[in-house]
Amino acid sequence: MTILQSNPGANVLKGKKIIIGICGGIAAYKIPQLVRLLKKRGAIVRVALTEGGAHFVSELALATVSEERVYRKIFPPMESEGVDFTRHISLGEWADALVIAPATANTLARLSAGLCDDMLAAIFLTLRPGKPVLIFPAMDGQMFLSHSVQRNIATLATQGCSIINPESGELASGLCGVGRMPEPEAILRALEEALHETGECSPLYGKKVVITAGPTREKIDDVRFISNYSSGKMGFAIARAAAKRGAIVTLLAGPVHLPTPPGVERLDVESAAEMNAAAEGFFNSCDLFIGAAAVSDYRPATPYEGKMKKDKEEIELALVKNPDILARFGLQKSACQLAVGFALETRTGLESARKKLTEKNLDLIAFNFFDRKTSGFDVDTNILTLIGSNGEITELPQLTKDAAAGKLLDAIEQLCLKDRH
Ligand code: C5P
Repeated sequence: MTILQSNPGANVLKGKKIIIGICGGIAAYKIPQLVRLLKKRGAIVRVALTEGGAHFVSELALATVSEERVYRKIFPPMESEGVDFTRHISLGEWADALVIAPATANTLARLSAGLCDDMLAAIFLTLRPGKPVLIFPAMDGQMFLSHSVQRNIATLATQGCSIINPESGELASGLCGVGRMPEPEAILRALEEALHETGECSPLYGKKVVITAGPTREKIDDVRFISNYSSGKMGFAIARAAAKRGAIVTLLAGPVHLPTPPGVERLDVESAAEMNAAAEGFFNSCDLFIGAAAVSDYRPATPYEGKMKKDKEEIELALVKNPDILARFGLQKSACQLAVGFALETRTGLESARKKLTEKNLDLIAFNFFDRKTSGFDVDTNILTLIGSNGEITELPQLTKDAAAGKLLDAIEQLCLKDRH
């Protein structure tokens, strides 16, 4: 299988409505150049300038290069601005992407707290779901590494914002260290990448995607269960990535301690039977079903009511087979639905993964192995080998689960495109 990158020749910025938020950091002086680069690529650019930002870059320069008025206060002084209404909601609805560069400690705090005290904050709050937000913090290195700034960055990241860490180099303080904003060209490339992964560019846009994730728990008695080491990280990463590409994602999650990815509908279940019942409700309506859960193969035949006593030297636990959720979907899916699964095997279990692909009637299976260090359950990285239903194989290197999810979705997108032709 060849994994094509999203059309590299396409100018993803053409006609895109981009808002650039500029805060009060010295790097603000570079933003007019970024505006020019974006305009050259055919983007429509509007600028939201914070009070601090206006100390470092002139409104006139930004209005001139963007050919648009610059937005600052939610309630503009009518006579000088020549407007008679506030646009604090319409700009968030208008934008295809929001770039905040440079982002100061103060604005990171305002945004993470949900304040709405200037146009940039209002745009951030009213941006439509699924639209990329790229935040480029730039400040003194100590300030950047402070607990408060890191906490606010972490909050914004869990809300789905892409935080692009500052670079090392000369700082306005005269010191050398981490804190520099990347150059306008690099900001442009990051924005292009984010737009590639999102919205109308993806064949997954608007598709109904159901993903199972995490372990299941099979009750032995009222206080004990059979389960496995699955953390749900892979399935959650896929859900996050699919939502970013504009899919309508439902995540059927076993018992895990992970936050719900932004824009994803999550249904919590405990046992395989519950996961199966929840999944069945989507079998007819979904476009794509991804089984990333480590569903328990067996469950105790008759869970004990109450707490089992340890009064016997030996007990026998009768187990019965659980429904194979993915196989049930795969074997009954229509020609326009796709089924994708995982096969957690030993390091050499490629053949077994292939067998599962065929037996469950899948379009793609991701083979991985379990070493508790680099791949499989519980860890933050994975090493996937993708096997297509036509036998094509793509070996991926060790990647973070987020990156592996991106590669898996790239491969699924190719299947969607094939279906269209
Ligand atoms: O357990 P097995 O290796 O067969 O799992 C392969 C794939 O099938 C995985 O994608 C898993 O999520 C799915 N599966 C399932 N229901 C089961 C067992 C596995 O959906 N009962």
